[in-house]
Amino acid sequence: MMWELYLLLLLGLGLRSQEALPPPCESQIYCHGELLHQVQMTKLYQDDKQFVDMSLTASPDEVLQSFRQLAMTHNNSIPREELQKFVQTYFQPVGQELQSWIPEDWKERPQFLQKISDAKLRDWAGQLHQIWKNLGKKMKPEIFKNPERSSLIYSEHPFIVPGGRFVEFYYWDSYWVMEGLLLSEMTSTVKGMLQNFLDLVKTYGHIPNGGRVYYLQRSQPPLLTLMMDLYVNYTKDISFLQENIETLASELDFWTMNRSLSVSSGGKSYILNRYYVPYGGPRPESYSKDEELANTVLEGDRETLWSELKAGAESGWDFSSRWLVGGTNPDLLSSIRTSKMIPVDLNAFLCQAEELMSNFYSRLGNDAEATKYRNLRSQRLAAMEAVLWDEQKGAWFDYDWEKEKKNLEFYPSNLTPLWTGCFSDPSVLDKALNYLEDNNILTYQYGIPTSLHNTGQQWDFPNAWAPLQDLVIRGLAKSASPRTQEVAFQLAQNWIRTNFKVYSQKSAMYEKYDITNGGQPGGGGEYEVQEGFGWTNGLALTLLDRYGDQLTSGTQLASLGPHCLLVALLISFLLQ
Ligand SMILES: *[C@@H]1O[C@H](CO)[C@@H](O)[C@H](O)[C@H]1NC(C)=O
Ligand SMILES: *[C@@H]1O[C@H](CO)[C@@H](O)[C@H](O)[C@H]1NC(C)=O
Ligand SMILES: *[C@@H]1O[C@H](CO)[C@@H](O)[C@H](O)[C@H]1NC(C)=O
Repeated sequence: MMWELYLLLLLGLGLRSQEALPPPCESQIYCHGELLHQVQMTKLYQDDKQFVDMSLTASPDEVLQSFRQLAMTHNNSIPREELQKFVQTYFQPVGQELQSWIPEDWKERPQFLQKISDAKLRDWAGQLHQIWKNLGKKMKPEIFKNPERSSLIYSEHPFIVPGGRFVEFYYWDSYWVMEGLLLSEMTSTVKGMLQNFLDLVKTYGHIPNGGRVYYLQRSQPPLLTLMMDLYVNYTKDISFLQENIETLASELDFWTMNRSLSVSSGGKSYILNRYYVPYGGPRPESYSKDEELANTVLEGDRETLWSELKAGAESGWDFSSRWLVGGTNPDLLSSIRTSKMIPVDLNAFLCQAEELMSNFYSRLGNDAEATKYRNLRSQRLAAMEAVLWDEQKGAWFDYDWEKEKKNLEFYPSNLTPLWTGCFSDPSVLDKALNYLEDNNILTYQYGIPTSLHNTGQQWDFPNAWAPLQDLVIRGLAKSASPRTQEVAFQLAQNWIRTNFKVYSQKSAMYEKYDITNGGQPGGGGEYEVQEGFGWTNGLALTLLDRYGDQLTSGTQLASLGPHCLLVALLISFLLQ
């Protein structure tokens, strides 16, 4: 295998070794084993995540011992009531290990609110700023004393969570959360969250998907370096950067050592990255769903299916037609083949991280490392241009390295290189506008859809997600062309209108919105739509800050349905 040789070569070149680390997720309660299997398959709880979020009332050994007894007594088929009783004895209800936390740096009137002209939007931004107080969490000291009694990964500093069923932190969500927090002038909250992530890299060699042991086998879109840039740019805290630059480098090593691949195109080979989780078994927090899905495929294909599901979760897009394309039945989740794709967004994020590392090292006076990362970025740029860019369509596309072809479907992630500044020719910014027009994306009034396929998965049509709006809006806004910038603003206005309208009706912010249903909360996927919601709030604040002098809360006539128009005409006729 070519790429394994390449990895050996990298190891030989002296990258920081990760050999000393234990295999991720060994818990016989929260990650594997008969107890997990029995409880999840008996479906004691509607949402599988509930059980793995409950902490123990005794040591894992005691709990496992007692479970073995119970299983023996019942000849391995424990009745539901007995299992229920067992769980009630040895597990605590969810939510006991975390306490609410009001950030100490929260203050009543952050400056940016004054920049918002529309009074209703200004008032709303003030309310979004209030929500940070509901999303703040802090670990109880018990987690530190008895870490094996809970699935939570201990974090020293308090943090902001997405909300709803997501009461722990999540990796890529936190980037948009931090952007909002900095507008709210909550610098020390951001620093604490960054410190938590850096600590995770030191302990595990990478950042897990979220703050639970059952998330340790996989990461999420790598935005740590960008988070550091955001923080350092805001605070000018160079000594924090200096102290942690090596840790940032270790995180990127994880993506190099564990997630890269050599692909050939036009007779040349290139190294690019993919989402890839080389571990089988059902995801503990979606255990019964993964088991049931596995029952629809051949026995010999189950471990691969589970590993591909985990890779899908690592991409942040769990789940999407994006990872099903080219499969045996691309409408079925069992067709998932995440690791066969070289994703545009992942490589664009890493390209940006390499550029930032180069800048960081320059500032710190380490020219050798600055040059190393500058070269890595140029190599990746060349690889992305050769493998992912499509001149005719004017966009980048995920590359299916198994079938050796691009996936030409529409996803906002296809424009991520604009957002990360990972291109050499600025004309790509205006080509992107044509690309959006060619796919009729600008006709959607409530937000940019995640794809044009309705599979029932949550990262597909008709759902719209905050981070994907941002990728496109801030990408286009980099153009020098007034028209492209105007479109960026319009897309921001659409998204703010959707968020504001739903907030006015439901007094809540959501993780995703349905653009075919007047922007109501989205649906589909594995669980009910969640309120909160960290990254949605972060992006709303960011857009309100950026376009505060232009955005309006009012609904425009153009976005009213024909029905309303008729009524309006009728009323104006009657009034005459
Ligand atoms: C226990 O289960 C096995 C098979 O699952 C069965 O052969 C055996 O008879 C059972 N024993 C009792 C005591 O029920
Ligand atoms: C850095 O911060 C300044 C204001 O402090 C802002 O104008 C600029 O856009 C920021 N740069 C980045 C890359 O975020
Ligand atoms: C990354 O790869 C190394 C070396 O193969 C391995 O020891 C480590 O467990 C891997 N990390 C993860 C999170 O899979």
